[in-house]
Amino acid sequence: MCEIIEKKKVLSCIQPSGMLTLGNYLGALKNWVNMQEEFDCTFAVADLHAITVRQEPAKLRQQIYSTFALLLALGLDPQKSTLFIQSQVPEHSALSWVLSCNTQFGEMARMTQFKDKSAKHSDNINVGLFSYPVLMAADILLYKPNFVPVGADQKQHLEIARDIAERFNRIYGDVFTVPEAYIPKAGARVMSLQNPDKKMSKSDDNANSWVAILDDRDTIIRKFKRAVTDSGSGIYMSEDKKGISNLITIYGAITGKTTQEVEKEFEGKGYGDFKLAVGEAVADELAPIKANFDKIIADKSELERLFKDGAQRAEKVARKTYFKAMKKVGFVL
Ligand code: TYM
Repeated sequence: MCEIIEKKKVLSCIQPSGMLTLGNYLGALKNWVNMQEEFDCTFAVADLHAITVRQEPAKLRQQIYSTFALLLALGLDPQKSTLFIQSQVPEHSALSWVLSCNTQFGEMARMTQFKDKSAKHSDNINVGLFSYPVLMAADILLYKPNFVPVGADQKQHLEIARDIAERFNRIYGDVFTVPEAYIPKAGARVMSLQNPDKKMSKSDDNANSWVAILDDRDTIIRKFKRAVTDSGSGIYMSEDKKGISNLITIYGAITGKTTQEVEKEFEGKGYGDFKLAVGEAVADELAPIKANFDKIIADKSELERLFKDGAQRAEKVARKTYFKAMKKVGFVL
């Protein structure tokens, strides 16, 4: 007798805001690709989240296309994983409302990302920016995933999603799976190359502080050569060597080597040699992604076919969970 073992489920999303960075890649995307064989995966471009910050419509549209194309360029396979665009599955917004009414104001007010973003965009502290983690909870809970692969900066949002799921199940009966965060050991928090106290982020005004997944080889190597280090010497992980520690983490996450192996490899070498080696390793890893991307983005109609098909498949799953939740709350269907 052949026993059918159901694969565990994975869901994650990425915002289509600006260039995606090496931080996005090491914190999340690289894992997505690694997980697609073993798990039943669903990945989305979280375009609804992007408008919590003011976006230029034409630019947003173009970034949604290019982020979707990048997912394919990374090696995510629409035959194996469901790949879609969040706004094309209306259950996300609809469930978000129901979940909002089951989330406390105080819970949202604690979110550190809200505090950071509202300080940065003080002219546009909109309600969406505040309630964004509820939409993120809806994104997750609709698909009943067991694991959500994200970088460390999303951990707090994941915890809220778990709290919301547990509370809803307690009040209305079992509807949602309570998911686990899946955070990589190396690369969960890639820091800025110019200020290793800050997370690497595409919204950083200093373009030398981040590496885009689609940067060309020379740009990547130049950015690593300019990376800020301390004035000492020695290549080892230490609290007072944050720049070097960040580069060790990046090199380890790219090559799969442990911290000890990296330290040993560069024993007695200078900072210059090390920065060049990290830049080259990153450039080698990202080059095929860029080559794939350039081909994929050129065929807009194929992209449209793929994201429409992905949205249909996603909606089938989302609608089931959504209707179940609505029924439990007491709506007439
Ligand atoms: P976003 O779009 O800011 O980032 C996408 C993923 O990249 C990770 N990441 C990093 N990891 C390590 N080091 C960094 N410097 C770094 N910068 C970004 C993030 O942790 C994330 O995993 N709210 C989410 C998107 C989202 C989502 C969801 C995620 C919407 N709905 C449902 C999971 C499940 C966000 O803004 O990620």
